[in-house]
Amino acid sequence: MCGIVGYIGPKPVVPVIIEGLRRLEYRGYDSAGIAVAGSPDGLQLRRAPGKLRNLEAVIAEHPIHGTFGIGHTRWATHGRPTEENAHPHRDCTGSLVVVHNGIVENYLALKQQLTAKGHTFVTETDTEIIAHLIEQELKEMEELLASTRGNSEPTRPALEEAVREAVKHLTGAFAIGVLSAHEPNKLVAARSGPPAVLGIGDGEYFLASDVPGILHHTRNIHFLADGELAVLTPEGVSLSDFSGRPLELKTQRIAWDPIQAEKAGYKHFMLKEINEQPRAIRDTTLGRISFDTGQVFLDNLDISADDLRRATQITIAACGTSWHAGLAGKFMIERLARLPVDVDYASEYRYRDPIPSPLDLGLLITQSGETADTLAAQAELISKGSKTLAICNVVGSAITRRANGTITTNAGPEIGVASTKAFTAQLTALFLLALHLAQVRNTITPEDSLRLATELGRLPSKLESMLLDPSNTIGMSEGVAAPTLTSAATSSSTPAWPGPERRRAPRLTLDEQCQHLARLFHAASNFLFLGRGIHYPIALEGALKLKEISYIHAEGYPAGEMKHGPNALIDESLPVVCIATKDPDDPASVLKYEKTLSNIQEVTARAGRVIAIATEGDDQIASLVEHTIHIPKAPELLLPILEVVPLQLVAYHIAVRRGCDVDQPRNLAKSVTVE
Ligand code: M6R
Repeated sequence: MCGIVGYIGPKPVVPVIIEGLRRLEYRGYDSAGIAVAGSPDGLQLRRAPGKLRNLEAVIAEHPIHGTFGIGHTRWATHGRPTEENAHPHRDCTGSLVVVHNGIVENYLALKQQLTAKGHTFVTETDTEIIAHLIEQELKEMEELLASTRGNSEPTRPALEEAVREAVKHLTGAFAIGVLSAHEPNKLVAARSGPPAVLGIGDGEYFLASDVPGILHHTRNIHFLADGELAVLTPEGVSLSDFSGRPLELKTQRIAWDPIQAEKAGYKHFMLKEINEQPRAIRDTTLGRISFDTGQVFLDNLDISADDLRRATQITIAACGTSWHAGLAGKFMIERLARLPVDVDYASEYRYRDPIPSPLDLGLLITQSGETADTLAAQAELISKGSKTLAICNVVGSAITRRANGTITTNAGPEIGVASTKAFTAQLTALFLLALHLAQVRNTITPEDSLRLATELGRLPSKLESMLLDPSNTIGMSEGVAAPTLTSAATSSSTPAWPGPERRRAPRLTLDEQCQHLARLFHAASNFLFLGRGIHYPIALEGALKLKEISYIHAEGYPAGEMKHGPNALIDESLPVVCIATKDPDDPASVLKYEKTLSNIQEVTARAGRVIAIATEGDDQIASLVEHTIHIPKAPELLLPILEVVPLQLVAYHIAVRRGCDVDQPRNLAKSVTVE
């Protein structure tokens, strides 16, 4: 949610922290701040509302220096994104500062108690409470020490002791970094909920809310666990639990290439990540499937084949894009493994008092592995006796640590807030799981296993041809005339669309086709996305991508539901994206496709502007709709991995045309560590 970077070491502190925050800015970008100490100027603070560049401008105007410091980029929960509410937050004396990721749920009660003890608050945030709480603990410890020693010589208790006591009063979720001007060259960190990592360098030590913030300096990372408190000094890191028991530091070497978290010449992370999908799918597949037999191997599962055979249901809980992957996974698992699947919004799951059986398997899908709602759903599943499995992109994240097994999506770090490659990697992992379940439960023939494995293996090169090859055989066609605008429509505030060219468009790359559509439709106020069966979750995902980065209102609907209400929305101002792909060798897929064609005709009959996503070779559809984007052929259950790509690109180009901040859309953050 928020980005935290702390540093202690020989390098100039401010650039290390600012650079780290830049790499973590995807976590929050409402405001930013930094505190450094250890110079003759004492503890110094700089903060600014808005993006990190605003903070950099403030620092350029009023430089600061020190030997240790902490910085923060904020995603606002309590209090508006103003300079005052930006972290770090100070205690009454201004000599102690705190950065925080998470939410202090009992902050109002604590604020009252602390106010009664004489503390003065200057912000609307929950985080400021933590600074005052630590100040209060320090004060009480100091008084106690003075009274037990019976002398007037004040003895200052160690900062970490006060932090340890303070966190015991907090309910909610926190990862914090604390420093005090009175304790030179010391950073204290504590975690309960949101992630925090420690970087162990050569004579230098780092604190961060996520690995990319410090990966340029060290690959030796300790993932701070819940209930752990760390003290960083130039001599090293000491670790303990909240009751003070010493713990051993468990550093892991992170294999990620730091370059993977760079833009690599692309204008935006999102565009780079869309283009990385062939590799993400290849890396998620490789080593898990035999292309000779079709057999799937899922390692690191503490769930036996017997558990999988006995399972009576799978409950999927996830949020946002990961929830859409879960909906698509339901089609894969039910069709291949004949096992019922329930898909819940993680934020709803535990509040509906679910009744899982201990034979049920819980499946959490999450890119980040730290989404608070998904963690809560996992806790509910575990408390009701279910084993849980995770599909996750971040090794060692909270959800994977609690799960009985993880299928890691090897998509590499995803920085753009809009999820793209993590989504298609999740679909890939779900397909592998469905195939594995089918094999274990004996619901698939070896021939079908091998056929599907072979098709899965072909996906990366199909994606490559879509994304990279300008001479690929897929393309766009432009068909029926746009409906004549009625005078009512032309006089309304809705834009008048340029009429479609009645011609086959020249061969364009997929990206060029999507740019063309963006040119035509970027001024629309609303969009509808339709699909049937497994294509319906992809319609939902197309709508989410568009709304989150372009701020255009967009809805996804099952195509067959249109006549039950949403048809009323259709007029000549409404672009309707219909996913009308099919696997010609699969009768169920063809039947669905035919039904979708009827739904498309219902839309065009009412003057809706249809953009169809169709399968290569399907010329029939092009004569029915205004624009068609063709994608390569694939089996029905694998088509989603291909058909979502044009939806991602259309959303991307529309957002760019509308001048939106594609990688850091307003009001959002990459990982949502609050409920
Ligand atoms: O990290 P997670 O997969 O658990 O995150 C879930 C959602 O917050 C996330 O997918 C969100 O919807 C994305 N911004 C969508 O692009």
